[in-house]
Amino acid sequence: MALGESTTVLVGVTGGIAAYKSCELVRALIKRGYRVKVVMTQAATEFVTPLTFRTLTNEPVAVSLWEDDPSAPVHHISLAEEADVFVIAPCTANVIAKMAHGRADDLLTTSALATEAPIVVAPAMNVHMWRDEVTQANIAALRARGVTFVEPESGELACGDVGEGRLARVEDIAAAVIAEAERARDLEGRTVLVTAGGTQEPIDPVRYIGNRSSGKTGFAIAAEAARRGARVTLVTGPTHLADPFRVDVVRVETALEMYAAVMEQAATADAVVASAAVADFRPAEVGAGKIKKGAMPEAITLVRNPDILAELGERDLGGVRIGFAAETSDVERHAREKLLSKHCHMVVANDVSDPALGFGTESNRVLFVTPDGTTDSGVIHKRAIAREVCDRLARLLDGESSA
Ligand code: C5P
Repeated sequence: MALGESTTVLVGVTGGIAAYKSCELVRALIKRGYRVKVVMTQAATEFVTPLTFRTLTNEPVAVSLWEDDPSAPVHHISLAEEADVFVIAPCTANVIAKMAHGRADDLLTTSALATEAPIVVAPAMNVHMWRDEVTQANIAALRARGVTFVEPESGELACGDVGEGRLARVEDIAAAVIAEAERARDLEGRTVLVTAGGTQEPIDPVRYIGNRSSGKTGFAIAAEAARRGARVTLVTGPTHLADPFRVDVVRVETALEMYAAVMEQAATADAVVASAAVADFRPAEVGAGKIKKGAMPEAITLVRNPDILAELGERDLGGVRIGFAAETSDVERHAREKLLSKHCHMVVANDVSDPALGFGTESNRVLFVTPDGTTDSGVIHKRAIAREVCDRLARLLDGESSA
């Protein structure tokens, strides 16, 4: 794994007494070989000067959205894009609240909103602020979106109170950053093909047969794999989702178009993640013009679409193959059947009979079904599912290349 100078860690420092401990964190990360850049809130500069961090990192320290050299790249975007990992330590209750609600009124919070990098937050605050329901709800919301928290410790606090709220140990924060940095590159050099969304099978130029897939999980997987260094092509059915960063997106409508696009790419892919809900059937005939009410046929004759994933399996194309299974009963059994029949290395299965989960929602509960066994994810955000899929994909690819 190519760690070292090429990994950039952005350290965010907010306004708490523990800000002085960020100096130690910065030193630990530099010692590890990372390039470290620091962004501070205005309040943080009351505790430690930007000059301290500038001296430690040998990099300019960013505080304000407004002090840019007009010829320089837009700062909050360039910091957000440069970061392989963004760690905010110490992080105040205020900055946690802003992040949870998407507020971006200074350089640090703007960078946090703009970045695609994994975010590690090490909170530090008074025990009552920590325990407050609002703070805990904000933390839960951020966790659900994939932010990693390094929990504060219990002890005597700067204000004299005793309880949890003291910044975690620098070694523990550094360890969390290192884990994310390693993850951030574990798909480097790999070519990953992802399918997403549902296909639309035309009846005539106006009407189609479709399904309820939103594409969210597939898009999240494509974004996560790209973030972790893979070259990613995403072949997707119609969805309102925007193209993820650094992903080649091929937009298709029908199963046949998806089939053609996937077959074109599969020979050069190290892995295929087939999350698309491909229609199993299409109308045998497509009306040239809109079918008039009076001319509506009694029944629409359907013909079978190719099973893209099964064909990849039969032809042993696409390298590591991960399939998906949306089921309404006997989820694990059906998923295990698919694992075998479609020659997959893993099937990600979910029960779509629960209206609170699955199609179009932000969260889901899935089973990771492999030849070795089954793991239940519990209810987690689709970004967390994407992360787990990529963790497992990286391990499967490492296994293949060492086999
Ligand atoms: O058989 P079933 O449709 O339930 O299988 C789901 C898995 O197979 C998903 O990974 C889906 O993307 C893939 N699939 C496919 N082509 C089809 C139907 C399903 O690639 N025509």
